[in-house]
Amino acid sequence: MPLARTRTDVRQSWTASKVNAFVSRFFRQTDLLIWRAGRSDSPPSMPVGTGFHRVTARSRPAERDRVEIAMRAAGEPKGLAAERFGHGDECCGWMVNGALVSFGWITRADRNIGPAELLDAPERLFLFNFHTTKQARGRGYYPALLLMLRYEFGREGFSEFIIDVNSRNAASISGIEKAGFRMVARVGFQVLLNCLYLLRSATSIDPAHRLLDLHGG
Ligand SMILES: CC(C)(COP(=O)(O)OP(=O)(O)OC[C@H]1O[C@@H](n2cnc3c(N)ncnc32)[C@H](O)[C@@H]1OP(=O)(O)O)[C@@H](O)C(=O)NCCC(=O)NCCS
Repeated sequence: MPLARTRTDVRQSWTASKVNAFVSRFFRQTDLLIWRAGRSDSPPSMPVGTGFHRVTARSRPAERDRVEIAMRAAGEPKGLAAERFGHGDECCGWMVNGALVSFGWITRADRNIGPAELLDAPERLFLFNFHTTKQARGRGYYPALLLMLRYEFGREGFSEFIIDVNSRNAASISGIEKAGFRMVARVGFQVLLNCLYLLRSATSIDPAHRLLDLHGG
C-alpha cells in the first residue's frame, strides 16, 4: 500500500513538473523594482587592483571588442554591444589585467522595462545590464561601480540615476542599496511567449519622482 501511494506521488509530481515546465515556457511572471539615486559629489574609492573603464561608440575598435567579449562571456547575444553603442549607450566597468571583470551599461533615453517606459529627462541616466564574472563576485565590485557612475556622470551634469532589478535578485538588490539607491517604484507584469507584456500592477513608492509611462497594459 505505501509503495503504491509512493508511485502515485512520483507520477503526480512528474506530471506537475512537466506541466510547470510547459507553462513557464510560455508564461512568466516578473516583478521589477525601480531605484533612484542622486549624483555623488565625492570620488569613491576604487577596488584594489582595478582600473575604471568607459567605452563608447567613439572608442577604439579594440576597446569595443573587449566589451563584446565580456558580454558574450556573460551570456549576452552576439552583436548586442554594437547595437547599444549605435544607440549612444556606454559600457563602464572595472578592468583587471586587461579584462572587464565587472561592467554595466548606461543609456540616456528609450529605456523600457516590460510594459513600462521609463520617462526620459535631460539630467536622468538609466543604468542596466550589470555583470560581474563568477570568479570576481563578492568583492564589492558592483556597488563600487554604481557609486563610481554616480560620481563620474554627476560631474557631467547628470543628477538622477535610475536602475531596475528583478525582485528575486537578492545579490543585485544588496549592491544597489549599498550604492545609496532608494526604491521609487515597482512594476509587476506577465510575459507571454517571451514577447507580449501584460501589466499586472505599477506602484509609485515615491510619486515625487515621476518615472513611469505605462503602455500595453
Ligand atoms: C549581481 C552581481 C552584479 C553582483 O556583483 P558583485 O560584484 O559580486 O557584487 P558584490 O560583491 O557586492 O556581491 C553582492 C552579493 O552577492 C553575494 N554573492 C552572490 N554570489 C556570490 C559568489 N559566487 N561569490 C561571492 N559572493 C556572492 C555576495 O555575498 C553579496 O552579498 P551581500 O551584499 O549580502 O554581502 C553579480 O552577482 C552578477 O553578475 N549576477 C548576474 C547578473 C545580474 O544579476 N546582474 C544584475 C542585474 S542587472
